[in-house]
Amino acid sequence: MARTPAELAGANSGAPFEITMDGRPVPALPGQSVAAALWSAGILAWRTTRTTGRPRGAFCGIGQCYDCLATINGEPNRRACLVPARPGDAITTQEGHGHARIGV
Ligand code: FES
Repeated sequence: MARTPAELAGANSGAPFEITMDGRPVPALPGQSVAAALWSAGILAWRTTRTTGRPRGAFCGIGQCYDCLATINGEPNRRACLVPARPGDAITTQEGHGHARIGV
C-alpha cells in the first residue's frame, strides 16, 4: 500500500481550508504557499505575459524568477510561491503587468 509524502514524513498539516482561483474553490493546507495550493489542484498557470499573452505559473518556486506573479485579494504582482495561502484568499488570473484596471 502506497503512503503519501506527508505520511512518510510524519507530518500533521492541520485542517484544510479553501481559497479561490478565478472564483473556483481550491483546497489548501496550513503552510502551503498559494502556488503549492494551485499546483495541488492541477492549476499550472495563473498569469499571462505582457507582450505575447503566454501562460505562466511557478517556475523556480523560491522567489527568484517572478514567473508566478498573481493577483491575490486584488493586489497584483504577488509572488505566489512566497505568499502563504490563507483561508478565503481570492486569487485571480493576472494579465500583463497587472495594472490594467487602473489604466497604468
Ligand atoms: S516561481 Fe519563481 S518567483 Fe515564484
